Amino acid sequence: MPAPAPFAEAAPAPKSSPLSPCGRGAGGEGARWRRLSISRSRLALGLVVLVLAASGCDFPGEQSAQIRPVPADQVTSFDELYATNCAGCHGADGTLGPAPPLNDPLFLRIVPDAVVHDVIRDGRPGTLMPAFVEQKAGTLTEAQVRVLADGLKKHWKPAPPSADEKHVPAYLLPTKGKGDSSTATIARGAKVYDRACAGCHGANGKGGDAAGAIADPAFLALLSDQALRRIVITGRPDLDMPDYAQTDGRADDFQPLTSAEIDDLVVYLRNLEKNPPATARLDRGSKSDSPAAVADRTDKTP
Ligand code: HEC
Ligand code: HEC
Repeated sequence: MPAPAPFAEAAPAPKSSPLSPCGRGAGGEGARWRRLSISRSRLALGLVVLVLAASGCDFPGEQSAQIRPVPADQVTSFDELYATNCAGCHGADGTLGPAPPLNDPLFLRIVPDAVVHDVIRDGRPGTLMPAFVEQKAGTLTEAQVRVLADGLKKHWKPAPPSADEKHVPAYLLPTKGKGDSSTATIARGAKVYDRACAGCHGANGKGGDAAGAIADPAFLALLSDQALRRIVITGRPDLDMPDYAQTDGRADDFQPLTSAEIDDLVVYLRNLEKNPPATARLDRGSKSDSPAAVADRTDKTP
């Protein structure tokens, strides 16, 4: 599996370096964002693990293939398959990895089984989620993909249906209106952003005291719209980011986000990748900008 270029860059960056892929230095306000950059390094590590596994290399201290009790393509234990193939990116226990947590009860509640299966089998093209099935140059058989897909919801329990179930936003992106990035939609999305996100991530996604910038083209380029939608719905409890309904960092009378509002919000966020606010980069790094950090960011600007 070819290693996607951006993470090849991210890997060697020490966590507090001004050259971190987030373009954010050791300033106090960067603390949270650094967690993201640490996560990115871990994602790169996951990738290395994967490449090693794919190339048949043994990890230090691991038994050699001859005395391994079960050949790799016949492993059918969820735990083993998960630990070998997924934990590097999604976290040892399905959480606190750089990739979206898989143990999240709300995520497990709303994600359709077919999506889980297809994502593991075919990956998410354009993101770091690789295809795992052999036919797509992955390392797993169809049967092993099935073990993982079926296993997620058995291993980690989905949230039970809630009393206000009909208000829980749908997991899937809308198929209708797909590709709509009209000015009107972006403007509606911006309003949702101000209400639900700006309190922590700052005006226009520039980054705030409680959370890092979102208007970072290098960051957004690695996340699909589907992943953005999912993160808005489930939040990242492991990183103190609220879900679609929680009021942390929001007005006390905050009303849960609706499916339609999240549609607009995702269009707005995607537009930040193409048209980041003019001051975003300066604001983010201003406290600890070195010429090298500035150059690094400039390099990444399309
Ligand atoms: C190289 C890192 C990496 C590895 C290894 C990896 N994933 Fe992923 N995975 C990701 C990323 C990144 C995403 C989000 C992609 C996006 O932007 O949509 C993702 C998304 C997913 C999703 C959809 C989550 C959602 O929020 O919609 C599932 C399910 C998933 N992965 C399962 C797995 C399983 C099971 C394995 C092991 C067989 C695995 N992944 C291995 C990086 C990885
Ligand atoms: C209470 C504060 C808070 C609010 C409100 C909030 N977030 Fe976050 N968010 C965080 C924190 C903390 C993180 C973790 C790392 C960081 O600072 O980027 C995070 C991370 C993220 C990430 C990266 C997640 C990942 O898996 O790498 C995205 C994308 C994001 N937030 C989008 C949003 C959007 C969109 C909204 C509005 C719907 C929002 N956030 C509202 C605090 C918040």
